[in-house]
Amino acid sequence: MNETLEKLGEIGIIPVIRLNSPEQAKPLGRALIAGFLSVAEITFRTSAARESIRIISKEFPGITVGAGTVLSTDQADEAIEAGASYIVTPGFNPKVVERCVQKNVPIIPGVSNPSQIEEALEMGLEVLKFFPAESSGGAGTLKAFAGPYGDKVSFIPTGGVNERNLAGYLSLSNVHAVGGSWMVPDSLIEAGDYSGVERLCREARYLSLGFSLLHIGINAGEDGDAGPNAELFSSMLGLPVKDGSSSAFVGKPFEIMKANGRGKHGHIAIETLSVERALGWFSDFGFKPVSETIRMKDGHISFAYVEPLFMGFALHLNRRG
Ligand code: 3PG
Repeated sequence: MNETLEKLGEIGIIPVIRLNSPEQAKPLGRALIAGFLSVAEITFRTSAARESIRIISKEFPGITVGAGTVLSTDQADEAIEAGASYIVTPGFNPKVVERCVQKNVPIIPGVSNPSQIEEALEMGLEVLKFFPAESSGGAGTLKAFAGPYGDKVSFIPTGGVNERNLAGYLSLSNVHAVGGSWMVPDSLIEAGDYSGVERLCREARYLSLGFSLLHIGINAGEDGDAGPNAELFSSMLGLPVKDGSSSAFVGKPFEIMKANGRGKHGHIAIETLSVERALGWFSDFGFKPVSETIRMKDGHISFAYVEPLFMGFALHLNRRG
């Protein structure tokens, strides 16, 4: 896959932005970086788009900046000339698609039905915008697309996606990323409230990673056998024991290891919407995957330990769902 498209997938969440003045571009760029969302789709809905793309791509090389709401080949040319590294269109416009393909710039056209998907596949595209996502049937429609098209194509649902429904989209195996404007609302940009934008971007990024505690694994160590300790904990907490070959679970939150597993004390299992994205995020904090522990399901990593230990505990990531 093209490097820019890969980057969009790694971040997983694309702010769709409307700027009324190029003067808003720099403070917006700073807010995106500080809010851990180093990606932007600047829409051609205002005359400030071209200049804003130029400023952000020049001043913030770490931000993957694209142009949205591109409705003609002229706009595509303008956006590319200004430095856009990808082009997004609301519908499937073969002329715009062809122009971008010729210029070797990733194009993400909007589709909402199988005929448009097949046209896009014919033209060699593998990532499409699903627009308008919520009013076109939302996650249910994308699940139905997974049947005939499998892993041939993945989608960026946009339009009505927000902090309440993004997890439902990001947990689907054919969703590349989501797009939306909720973390860069016009009202905050017009008010010059960039710390508000930064906060919403950061919240959106954490929501897209979707971390939660799955269970804690406790190494039996020298302090006794797993069996009696699992029974003790089960009676104390009123949770059932589920015996397995290498451990006994007490309810869902506690895994008592029979032989010492990874980690000095045990392990902490963290659930996430995407192990791939979580690994990218963790790498910024010095944690890297233990390659022999990686498990795959439906084309995605479903499980991986990371190293080093955290306070004597190994950490593993599990994909939700
Ligand atoms: C777009 O152009 O992609 C949409 O207008 C963004 O949709 P939203 O405002 O509902 O997030």
